[in-house]
Amino acid sequence: MKILVSGTGYVGLVTAVCLAEKGHNVVCYDVVKEKIDMLNQGKSPIYEAGLEELMQKNKERIIYTYNKKEAYKDLDVIFIGVGTPERVDGSANLDYIYAVADDIVENINKDCLVVMKSTVPIGTNYKVEKYIQDRLKGKHRIEIASNPEFLAQGTAVIDTLEAQRIIIGTHSKWAEKILKEIYKDFEKSVIVSTDINSAEMIKYASNDFLALKISYINEIANLCEALGANIEDVTLGMGLDKRIGNKFLNAGIGYGGSCFPKDTKALHWLAKINECELKTVKAAIDVNQNQKIRLIEKSKKYYEHLKGINVAVLGLAFKPGTDDLREAPSIINVEYLENNGANIKAWDPIAQKNFSKIFPQINYCDTIDDTIKDADICFIFTEWEQIKKYDISKYEKLMRKAVILDGRNCYKLDDVKQYNIIYESIGRKSIENIKK
Ligand code: UGA
Repeated sequence: MKILVSGTGYVGLVTAVCLAEKGHNVVCYDVVKEKIDMLNQGKSPIYEAGLEELMQKNKERIIYTYNKKEAYKDLDVIFIGVGTPERVDGSANLDYIYAVADDIVENINKDCLVVMKSTVPIGTNYKVEKYIQDRLKGKHRIEIASNPEFLAQGTAVIDTLEAQRIIIGTHSKWAEKILKEIYKDFEKSVIVSTDINSAEMIKYASNDFLALKISYINEIANLCEALGANIEDVTLGMGLDKRIGNKFLNAGIGYGGSCFPKDTKALHWLAKINECELKTVKAAIDVNQNQKIRLIEKSKKYYEHLKGINVAVLGLAFKPGTDDLREAPSIINVEYLENNGANIKAWDPIAQKNFSKIFPQINYCDTIDDTIKDADICFIFTEWEQIKKYDISKYEKLMRKAVILDGRNCYKLDDVKQYNIIYESIGRKSIENIKK
């Protein structure tokens, strides 16, 4: 079976490498020559733990190419793994999907199955299938299947190789059989066969549910602050109920990344144009927007104006384990700090380079020590291990005034209490151990 994966981002590349790991021969295609050149040198264009090792291990089974003719020749299956970014109105931009559809029309030379891995609004698979069939005019048999991915950045390889579920949305036994054959060695995964629209819906409904869970717990956390409760005790107590579960109950400064913000808006938009408003999803979006600036609100307690204030920023990525900054809370916050005249020093173990493309003018430090030195206030936006393990006494020693606003609850309150610092986190009591 000749398999092509079109797109070498998180979805495409991880899919390709994991299929190779399970013994398939895979061709990886991308229009960006630089990415293919990197891949041919054994380097991954995205930061993902374990990915380069698997690329190396399976290099005999993967071809990376930007040669369209070569890529699309004699194919049996094409996985589409290109991006579906957000449009201004919240809808998903499907331009890249249709560009692949055009490539399929122009280049395939035999019957094949198209498998949609990208996250697309419900109904898109059928539209793309019709688009291709109309243009092929019966020259070759083409059918589409929906096979959404559920990998999270940072754990993408394991999430794929040991997926809890593999969703196969098809409208023929032929397509279902091919996909079951491809996934036959994924022993740890439950395979669920559905119709195409349901498969597309499973993806959105899952992501939006998780986003909702986070926004819900963030609202409860804010209320805990107002009423003197502790969110960590509350989530511990809640999470022991198996119906609720203890996952995705970490309160913080809101969700970011390339998925939750985009997928909540896309489903909300889709529901609205179908005259069926999703009020809970809308609430999750609104709560998240406000949550992202929660620390700025807290900072006003200590500094009325930020002009000339030395600000340390720890953590830039939208979550640990990635250098991805899409919708990262750090961006909106640093923008605010900059617009208000703060002197900013920032640190992140891997996302600094990407951040400097958006904010070239702020100072980037190699160590946490250098970042917080002489700072008047410190913002924590990502719960990197390096931050969690950092010696809290150093905030007291190195900062000009040790005011720490922690958006990811990196430290235990009992540990913080030992030091002469001001510490504000999410959903927990403030600690004010120094004079303002
Ligand atoms: C998410 C889903 O978790 C994956 O299952 C899905 O396949 C993927 O989107 C996708 O659609 O491609 P990802 O965006 O990589 O994966 O990251 P998550 O680990 O889900 O985190 C998203 C955001 O939620 C982060 O900003 C994180 O800090 C935040 N979060 C997560 C919380 O604030 N609290 C939590 O308890 C969990």
